[in-house]
Amino acid sequence: MEEIERILEASKLVEEDRIENSLRPNSLDDFVGQDKLKENLKIFIEAAKTRKEALDHCLFYAPPGLGKTTLSHIIAKEMGANLRMTSGPVLERVGDLAAILTNLNEGDVFFIDEIHRLNHLVEESLYPVMEDFELDIIIGQGPSAKTIKLPVPHFTLIGATTRAGLLSSPLRDRFGIIGHLDFYGLKELNYIVKRSSGIINIEIDDDASQEIARRSRGTPRIVNRLLKRVRDFAQVKGGKITEDIAKEALDALEVDNAGLDKMDRLLLSVMVEKFGGGPVGVETLAVAISEESDTITDVYEPYLIQSGFMARTSRGRVVTEAGFKHLGFEVPKNAQKELF
Ligand SMILES: Nc1ncnc2c1ncn2[C@@H]1O[C@H](COP(=O)(O)OP(=O)(O)OP(=O)(O)O)[C@@H](O)[C@H]1O
Ligand SMILES: [Mg+2]
Repeated sequence: MEEIERILEASKLVEEDRIENSLRPNSLDDFVGQDKLKENLKIFIEAAKTRKEALDHCLFYAPPGLGKTTLSHIIAKEMGANLRMTSGPVLERVGDLAAILTNLNEGDVFFIDEIHRLNHLVEESLYPVMEDFELDIIIGQGPSAKTIKLPVPHFTLIGATTRAGLLSSPLRDRFGIIGHLDFYGLKELNYIVKRSSGIINIEIDDDASQEIARRSRGTPRIVNRLLKRVRDFAQVKGGKITEDIAKEALDALEVDNAGLDKMDRLLLSVMVEKFGGGPVGVETLAVAISEESDTITDVYEPYLIQSGFMARTSRGRVVTEAGFKHLGFEVPKNAQKELF
């Protein structure tokens, strides 16, 4: 199958690190949206600071690009603590974990990205660390092996994952604060477009900003990516981002007016053309479009479901009435109505 470059890929592209850092909000007040989670965090942070204690361990789950890493930076900053970052697959052995833990200071924030991908020995050794701030280390082998308990400073563990369901329950239960980030609404996305254009110093019309917001899959990372591409078009054509330029650029990038890109449309049309609109199992679908099933579940499907083009049923995924219409297919009589 043809390789499709995904302008709407919500996962981070390698060269995006630099620009992401410049656009990352630095405080909870700068962090747009997710109001409920933000209000709660403010209270928990304030309370922990008053008690002069580390913040409770936090788990953030959300599809890619919605702000999990950003929130962790902000929490460390608001707590006045150092941030130490790693990711599940990097912590291969308990020794790797011990090396980090023994170098933490009281109150530090230790961020583990993709925490659902921890190896199980490392995961199990985290349990006493999270609960009692003690790391069990086994010294020696066989009958003479001894366990010693190594005290570690009181720190805050922040775990990030795209799906909370992938976490074992003993691990999940040890987080005091569990937060889910939702896709952002148009108003919030629009605000992010404006904020980012101010930072990268490009003038943008209101209509143009709304157009970018509408087509960014509810995802701040995609807002910033589209804005960058649209800016290139504007600079070649005279400077300012107008609605016409935004539309022309977004059309050229093949992002449609519902924010779907080629890959999203391919997924839906394969469901219609090969499977009569479903129900079809995610594994079967993965084979049909040559993708990993995890990528479908974590990256494509959440937004398609959220926007009402696809639904998850006990027998598999189905294209909804709105999905058939959006692609220009005739709607079959038994098509599922939108759920909202
Ligand atoms: N609430 C927000 N307000 C403004 N900008 C945001 C917000 N959330 C995220 N962003 C922007 O989107 C970019 C991506 O966010 P972030 O890296 O935190 O996502 P993530 O959830 O960690 O994604 P991944 O699962 O790929 O690690 C950030 O660099 C930031 O510029
Ligand atoms: Mg991240």
